[in-house]
Amino acid sequence: VAPWLVVPAAGQGRRMGADRPKQYLAIDGRPVLAHTLARLHAAFPAARLCLCLDPEDARFDPAWVPFAEWRRVPGGAERVDSVASALAAIAGEAGDDDLVLVHDVARPCVTVADLVRLHAVLADDPVGGLLAAPVADTMKRDDGAGRVATTEPRAGLWHALTPQGFRYGLLRRALTAAREAGVAVTDEASAVEALGRFPRLVSGRRDNLKITHPEDLALAGQILAAQRQATAS
Ligand code: CTP
Ligand code: MG
Repeated sequence: VAPWLVVPAAGQGRRMGADRPKQYLAIDGRPVLAHTLARLHAAFPAARLCLCLDPEDARFDPAWVPFAEWRRVPGGAERVDSVASALAAIAGEAGDDDLVLVHDVARPCVTVADLVRLHAVLADDPVGGLLAAPVADTMKRDDGAGRVATTEPRAGLWHALTPQGFRYGLLRRALTAAREAGVAVTDEASAVEALGRFPRLVSGRRDNLKITHPEDLALAGQILAAQRQATAS
């Protein structure tokens, strides 16, 4: 069964500091948003998509959406609000046990192989999980004044990537609880963890970067080109 897809794309891209939100910056003449949706569609052609967009967004073009079944939902103030808005929009249609994959629009380099593998692993997982990559650098915690307070053991630390996938009912409960408690959650997994459930870590490629800072755009373009070459050869 094809999963539901939620793609939060209502951010402003402040750290990018460009003249437009980063999902509309071009790589090879196409916006990041179109690249990301193309990868998701290649992996899940029959999925139903909820695309979270700023209601005032005038740059979006529906021609970039390759899915047969999709809807535009209004994003909220924070990423978690945008995702919650998507879940609210499909209430009544989505069953509690339906799998929902949430993927940042700013991650165009996710591979079809990782998407398909994540979906397969989560198909019979009672909780859900996320793509993640082991931390390579040694991690320092600062003392708030520019010096090292402690070195965090790197072993067992992972970068949380997306997609993150959970059953609709559990995810909706988790996000509702997080928003009511007013705790800042930057991913779906942390909201689920707060309910005492433990998401599965699914090892994914490290080049699934989130375009965040100016130098990331060119890097994402190079990663996409390298991936295309590897697939062609
Ligand atoms: N996002 C969203 N709604 C928000 C904030 C973020 O849908 N209110 C989305 C972004 O579009 C992005 C993803 O959540 O796909 C991850 O957020 P982030 O990388 O922080 O993007 P921005 O919020 O756009 O960037 P910044 O924080 O630098 O402003
Ligand atoms: Mg943000």
